[in-house]
Amino acid sequence: MARQIQFTQTGGPEVLKVAEVEPRDPGAGEIRIANRAIGLNFIDIYIRSGLYPTELPSGLGTEGAGVVDAVGEEVEDFVEGDRVAYAMGPLGAYADFITMDAAKAIALPEAIDFEAAAGGMLKGLTVQYLTRQTYAIGEGETIVFHAAAGGVGSIACQWAHALGAHAIGTVSNEDKASIAHQNGAWMTIDTTRESVPERVRELTDGAMVPVVYDSVGKDTWTDSLACLSRRGLMVSFGNASGAVEGVNLVDLNKGGSLFVTRPSLAGYADTRVRFEMMCADLFAVLESGEVKINIGQRFALEDAGQAQRALANRETTGSTILTV
Ligand SMILES: NC(=O)c1ccc[n+]([C@@H]2O[C@H](COP(=O)([O-])OP(=O)(O)OC[C@H]3O[C@@H](n4cnc5c(N)ncnc54)[C@H](OP(=O)(O)O)[C@@H]3O)[C@@H](O)[C@H]2O)c1
Repeated sequence: MARQIQFTQTGGPEVLKVAEVEPRDPGAGEIRIANRAIGLNFIDIYIRSGLYPTELPSGLGTEGAGVVDAVGEEVEDFVEGDRVAYAMGPLGAYADFITMDAAKAIALPEAIDFEAAAGGMLKGLTVQYLTRQTYAIGEGETIVFHAAAGGVGSIACQWAHALGAHAIGTVSNEDKASIAHQNGAWMTIDTTRESVPERVRELTDGAMVPVVYDSVGKDTWTDSLACLSRRGLMVSFGNASGAVEGVNLVDLNKGGSLFVTRPSLAGYADTRVRFEMMCADLFAVLESGEVKINIGQRFALEDAGQAQRALANRETTGSTILTV
C-alpha cells in the first residue's frame, strides 16, 4: 500500500486527507513513477477550493519527479529505473506513486536533481512560455513581474536577467525584496506601501513598460494596465488574490490600444513536440546555472494542507515541495 492525498469535498486545506491506496499498474502507453519529490503550485489551491472544478473524490497535484517503477505495454521511451519529471500529470501527484500517460513525462538530465525538478518543472515551463513565447523579452527591455519572490517569480527574475532584461518585481515585504534582488530583479516595488504605476513611471522616466506579467489577478488588474506603454501587453496568468472579473474593453482603448492575454501552460505545451522543446529550453538554463530552483520550504507529504496554507497566506518564497 502507498499514500495518496485525496479530497472528497472542496474547501479549505483541512479537506485534504491521507488515504492508503494500491498503486495502479500502468496500462498501455503508461508508466508508474515512484515520486522522490512533489511540486506544490497555486493551481492546486484553486482546485482544492473549487475555483477550478473537478470530479470528486480526487487526488491533487500535477508536478513531481522520481524513478520509473513499472512500464506498460507500447511504451518505447522509458524503462524501469529511469529518472523522470512531469508538470502536467493527472491529478494525484501528492502521493508516493503516480501512474500516467508516458507522454506526460520527460527524461530528467543527470545534472538536475529530483527536488529542483519537482520545484521547477511546472513553474519553469510557465516562465519559458511567458518570457520566450507569449512576449519574447528582448535585451535591454524593462518588464514588470508580480510576486517576484514567489515560485514562478523567482525563476522569472533569473531568466529575465539572463535575457538581459530589467525586471521590476513586486513584493510585499523587505525580505521578499531582497530575495527578488538576489534572483536578478533590477528593481522591486513593495505593494504594501508604494503605488506600482507611480513607481514604474519614475523608474522608466515616464516610458512605462511593454509587458506586465500579472499572476495576482483581481487586486492588481487595474494597476497593471496602468503600467503599460502604448500597445503594451497585459499577461494575466493567475488568480492568487481572486479571479479577474468584469473586464471593460474600453479600458484597453483608454490605456493606449493595449493587448491582453490569459494564457495557461496547457495551452502552450499542448503537443509532445512543443512540450519537449520547452523542456529542452528549461533544462538548458538550469544546466548552465543561469537559473537555479530555490526550494524555499519543504513539507512532508502528509502535511500538504499545511503547505497549501502557507502558500495561500503569502508565507512562502521560491518553490515549495512535498517530500516522500
Ligand atoms: N497560467 C499559468 O500557466 C500558470 C502556471 C503556473 C502558475 N501560475 C500562477 O502563477 C502564480 C504564482 O504561482 P506560485 O505557485 O509560484 O505561487 P507564489 O508566487 O509562490 O505565491 C503567490 C504569491 O502571490 C502574491 N500574492 C499577492 N496577493 C496575494 C493574495 N491575495 N493571496 C496570496 N498571494 C498573493 C504573494 O507574494 P507577495 O506577498 O510578495 O505579494 C504570494 O507569495 C499563481 O497565481 C499561479 O496560479 C499560472
